[in-house]
Amino acid sequence: MSEDPSKAVRIGLLGRGTVGAAFAELVEARADAVEAATSRRPEISGVLTREQGDFASILEGSDLVVELMGGTEPARDYVLEALRAGRPVVTANKQLLAQYGEELFDAAREAGVQLRFEAAVAGVIPIVRVIQESFGVTDIAKVFGIVNGTTNFILTEMAASGASYEDALSRAKELGYAEADPTEDVNGADAAAKMAILARLAFHTPVTLDCVSYEGIERIEPEDLAYARELGLSLKLLGVAERRERGVSVRVFPCFLYGGHPLAPVEGPFNAVMVEAPAITEVTMSGPGAGGVQTASAVLGDVVSILCGEAPVHDTRETLPIVADVASSFYLHLEVADRPGVLARIATVLGDKGVSVKSVVQRGTGDEARLVMVVHECLESLFEEALEAIDGLDVLRAPPRAIRVIEEEFV
Ligand SMILES: NC(=O)c1ccc[n+]([C@@H]2O[C@H](COP(=O)([O-])OP(=O)(O)OC[C@H]3O[C@@H](n4cnc5c(N)ncnc54)[C@H](OP(=O)(O)O)[C@@H]3O)[C@@H](O)[C@H]2O)c1
Repeated sequence: MSEDPSKAVRIGLLGRGTVGAAFAELVEARADAVEAATSRRPEISGVLTREQGDFASILEGSDLVVELMGGTEPARDYVLEALRAGRPVVTANKQLLAQYGEELFDAAREAGVQLRFEAAVAGVIPIVRVIQESFGVTDIAKVFGIVNGTTNFILTEMAASGASYEDALSRAKELGYAEADPTEDVNGADAAAKMAILARLAFHTPVTLDCVSYEGIERIEPEDLAYARELGLSLKLLGVAERRERGVSVRVFPCFLYGGHPLAPVEGPFNAVMVEAPAITEVTMSGPGAGGVQTASAVLGDVVSILCGEAPVHDTRETLPIVADVASSFYLHLEVADRPGVLARIATVLGDKGVSVKSVVQRGTGDEARLVMVVHECLESLFEEALEAIDGLDVLRAPPRAIRVIEEEFV
């Protein structure tokens, strides 16, 4: 990039959709402020869409490239080409980073230019910067949070109004919180990509999307939320990246939280991320999870960082294995025959696998009863074995439903 501070910084913009259009407007609106902060005045020197522009000439005429196209191809080729041509790149593309992060980081390192991607994770929350810079040499134990606004809106709506999953999803679409095709949001894949990026940064080890196990919220029933209220729990789709004894674990799953948990009050389309480390105890940040203007603002923040010359190196310090079987606490919902001894039989099956019960709510509904229990933390593989055994009992009237619970009660 030309270092002449008297010159404008020419930005090649790849993609002018929701975020790209907002970014172009923001560059114009905030040009004076950027110039005052960096001594360089930003201008959009070329725009690429499916209908407009040519990548080679946009690259030629730019000092810095902003990729807001989405998808992995041709975004990957363009970003690699821009980095290799010595252009710093800003992108909001989580899929690209989660699948090809190492290749892109290597290209940036080799070319000696910056690759910034704050907007790819958790919207406006500056979590990438905080992990890479503020906590760059902190021994991070865990990064977790609500990193998908669409699902948080749907779960909030279901809990508040008793709406079904389908009705809450329709409402999210009406209000613009869900896309026409919300598959990747509701099945957890979007959050998984974001958690792969955060885990990579927090633990300095290669983590790609296929290392992340994920579940979505499609099978959550309003009934689960109603019982949860009785137990003092609220439901969130959580992304959890943890340092484990033998490696790292990166997962996305619906999870109940007790009322005092810092993530419990995060509602609607908001995101929140917590970082835990022995040296810092814990830090929680929350804010809007998406939106054109909000995302564009995070992108412009990255442009300013590049102009100020800060340069994270995205180093890999060790290659850690991914740990699949971890310990969790669970909420368990059972529809059973309403007769004496049923609860004792279920408790025996759980006990045989070393799973102990923390609390139970029992309701009779004629011939049937609902048993809702929270069990203490146990290895997930053992809980699954117990679940399979319970499913085989003749007193079961419907398949059991289990949802993880974070047992920790914050006070
Ligand atoms: N929307 C959000 O709130 C949000 C939040 C965080 C991160 N992001 C990320 O930001 C990026 C952009 O999202 P968006 O919502 O702005 O997407 P969008 O509205 O679909 O816009 C995409 C833009 O890229 C262009 N484009 C796509 N494929 C292209 C190709 N092969 N060649 C040339 N141009 C192409 C499109 O051109 P046409 O106009 O010709 O179709 C359009 O201008 C994505 O990586 C997304 O994950 C978005």
